[in-house]
Amino acid sequence: MSQRTRVAVVGLGIGIQHAAAWKQLGDLFDLVAVCDVDEKRAQLVAEKLGVARALTDYQALLTGPDAPDVLDICTPPHLHFEMSVAALRAGKHVICEKPLVPSLAICDELTRIEADAPGRLMPIFQYRFGKGLLKLRHLIAEGLVGRAYLSTIETAWLRGDDYYAVDWRGKWKSELGGVLTTHAIHAHDILCNVIGPVKSVFARVTTRVNAIETEDCAAVAVEMADGSLATLSATLGSRPEISRLRFCFEQLTAESSLAPYQPSFDPWTFTAGHEEQQARVDAALRDFDDAGGGYELYAGQFARFYAALESGDALPVTLADARASLELLTAIYHSAQTGEPVELPIGPDHPRFEGWLPA
Ligand SMILES: NC(=O)c1ccc[n+]([C@@H]2O[C@H](COP(=O)([O-])OP(=O)(O)OC[C@H]3O[C@@H](n4cnc5c(N)ncnc54)[C@H](O)[C@@H]3O)[C@@H](O)[C@H]2O)c1
Repeated sequence: MSQRTRVAVVGLGIGIQHAAAWKQLGDLFDLVAVCDVDEKRAQLVAEKLGVARALTDYQALLTGPDAPDVLDICTPPHLHFEMSVAALRAGKHVICEKPLVPSLAICDELTRIEADAPGRLMPIFQYRFGKGLLKLRHLIAEGLVGRAYLSTIETAWLRGDDYYAVDWRGKWKSELGGVLTTHAIHAHDILCNVIGPVKSVFARVTTRVNAIETEDCAAVAVEMADGSLATLSATLGSRPEISRLRFCFEQLTAESSLAPYQPSFDPWTFTAGHEEQQARVDAALRDFDDAGGGYELYAGQFARFYAALESGDALPVTLADARASLELLTAIYHSAQTGEPVELPIGPDHPRFEGWLPA
């Protein structure tokens, strides 16, 4: 690609932040269109960001000389599969917000469709791209952490009536879940990104904060494939809001800040067990280069997306990563529904392979 890659964003809630990130990376990408069924919203965003086209029908974006190279899908979750397939079949690259799709079966179908299409699909997990978390990954790559012992993953956010006034939220059919599916999915992805696959879960969920169908509090005990343990706690009823990612390893403990929506950003603390090890850790941190041009969150993921399309290397977030997050959700919901621990991997013969939504 010698020219700027042409992008269109569909769905202009969080999609506005995506659009701003594409604009931030104006040397690499050309944001050629925005699309929302709410015509006024599309026009306002186009005007504000200086985007040439504002549309209401995403299908109209997929063909013709003005069609983008990439469709960035930021619509409610129940629309992700249909839009992703249409865009892949039209030869586009696809970027799609979380949760990618409603089941492991549908994720596998999407993976097959992508494999047969010329374009590539990148799920969104923008929280991976913060310098604090990337420093931990650097220390792991440098062999400075040792075996994992215990990870503590907290997502304590606040949502109320105004948030759930939006029609698709709070309902199994359209949101696909609650705090686990929509909010804590980021922190849980980071756990798998840092420690690796999950072996088993035992979960309890409840709905206590808001008058919604889906869960807004969850407590989960997790056994990781490497033998370490993790606890996940998630609520939408916390004042103040915090996120906290805490990883106890043999040779150091890593802890994020409490910034609820930037848990992967600096400052993190990295505390080693003794002075010489701390000196090695501090020296490695001085050498740290985030390799993402200094961009974090969406811009960090998109800049790496560009580099991966150029090089043909793996995308910064893969379909397999999104599948792992869906597998964890499937296991957690099944455990909460049955009251039993659930072992992973979850195969096609599992009762929840086709979806975790309650009957
Ligand atoms: N990665 C993150 O941090 C993050 C944050 C918020 C939301 N999200 C995800 O992004 C998605 C959207 O969430 P949101 O909070 O922005 O929702 P939202 O309701 O605020 O915005 C969605 C927008 O999509 C538009 N829309 C709906 N159907 C459409 C269609 N057929 N064609 C075009 N536009 C359509 C709506 O009019 C609305 O403007 C969800 O999957 C959500 O989980 C991710």
